[in-house]
Amino acid sequence: MKQQEQLLTIKRFVRHLFQDDITGHDYYHMKRVAHLAKLIAEKEHADRFICETAAWLHDVVDEKLFTNPTEIKKELERLLISIDLSKQEIAQIKLAITDISFRKGKIPKSLEGKIVQDADQLDAIGAIGIARAFAYGATKGRHFYHEQFNNHTIKHFYDKLLLIKDTLHTKTAQHFAKERHQMMEQFLEQFYKEWNDGEITLARKDVEHHY
Ligand code: ADP
Ligand code: NI
Repeated sequence: MKQQEQLLTIKRFVRHLFQDDITGHDYYHMKRVAHLAKLIAEKEHADRFICETAAWLHDVVDEKLFTNPTEIKKELERLLISIDLSKQEIAQIKLAITDISFRKGKIPKSLEGKIVQDADQLDAIGAIGIARAFAYGATKGRHFYHEQFNNHTIKHFYDKLLLIKDTLHTKTAQHFAKERHQMMEQFLEQFYKEWNDGEITLARKDVEHHY
């Protein structure tokens, strides 16, 4: 099977698996991460095919996204075998998609893993990152901002999103992150401005001091 056909089969699998997702982990998230991973791989002289394939599949192993993760992992195993990938390619793809979550705080061992993690992190910042954060927060029943709750989505920017630019592994991703990071800072600035004229400073202080 040619690489293009292998990728097509993988995309079909991913489309089917994530078609109903509204938490920011939909097919288009995988598509964006795959695109970014390919771009980064080219610049960093890594294996493009492994990066792209692993990026398409990176959330298949995320246990929080599925009610039947064991079954999904078996399906992934069957898929990788069915498209004639070599044993070595399968091992590389698996290595790249294991332990890539920032939440778990692990640093991937391979360059390809680092690239997929960087691509995934880039999709959590910038305009898309802002949209995904609010979408995710809503599915968890969270306020986008609230003075009496400390799990609102604005807080997530301080807990995670504003820190991402300093956790990226590759120079290429760090470069891509600059514009996206600025975008989030501008967004927060404007958010406070619009929140309520008299409470702008209060809202900002609140977030910075208590979290
Ligand atoms: P990963 O993509 O590594 O699985 P997560 O599942 O933690 O990472 O995050 C996926 C998306 O959901 C990201 O865009 C992230 O910002 C968002 N998200 C995760 N936790 C929260 C939260 N507590 N509030 C708002 N958004 C969140
Ligand atoms: Ni992801």
